[in-house]
Amino acid sequence: MKNVAVFASGTGSNFQAIIDAVEQGTLQANLVLLVCDKPGAKAIERANSHNIDTFVFTPKQYESKSAFETEIVSELQKRDVDYIALAGYMRLIGPTLLQSYEGKIINIHPSLLPAFPGKDAIGQAFQAGVEKTGVTIHYVDEGMDTGPAIAQGDVVLEENETMETLTKKIQKIEHELYPKTLQKIIEQ
Ligand code: GAR
Repeated sequence: MKNVAVFASGTGSNFQAIIDAVEQGTLQANLVLLVCDKPGAKAIERANSHNIDTFVFTPKQYESKSAFETEIVSELQKRDVDYIALAGYMRLIGPTLLQSYEGKIINIHPSLLPAFPGKDAIGQAFQAGVEKTGVTIHYVDEGMDTGPAIAQGDVVLEENETMETLTKKIQKIEHELYPKTLQKIIEQ
């Protein structure tokens, strides 16, 4: 079975969907590590309550991105990590990690990329008044929410759509699509 590390910065609802899929056997992987750049993030509680190791760090305490990524790589190598799933990790991946895990880093983003990269993608799409938005799962390269797409899921906006209803619809698709897509990647 492949070893997977999840990177998250916040709530970790996608991390939870991945945990649930592993526990239900629909995602056949070992979740060996949560990497989190925000001490106190809810994602850490989720890891703890499912006995998943964590590496929690404060970026400002390092002199550079490459310094903390070197530590992350060492934590990943210790656990023979095969794949990295970014799940709301709100930080660009630098060359240190990209070179060590080339083609093995996957991200989920709440828009139909290349539309609305970056922060608050749901809000950006809502403000733009689009008829359709959605979710993209893609391989990670050096850009912000760039890299080859692997899967997309659409969400059509209704006339009475609010940010709240749209966010719920997007999250529902994220939580189904991410574990399913990770399983397909791992099987290849
Ligand atoms: C998710 O919507 C994810 O797609 C997004 O952050 C949210 C994390 O939610 N990622 C990005 O915007 C990446 N640019 P979660 O912590 O509840 O999984």
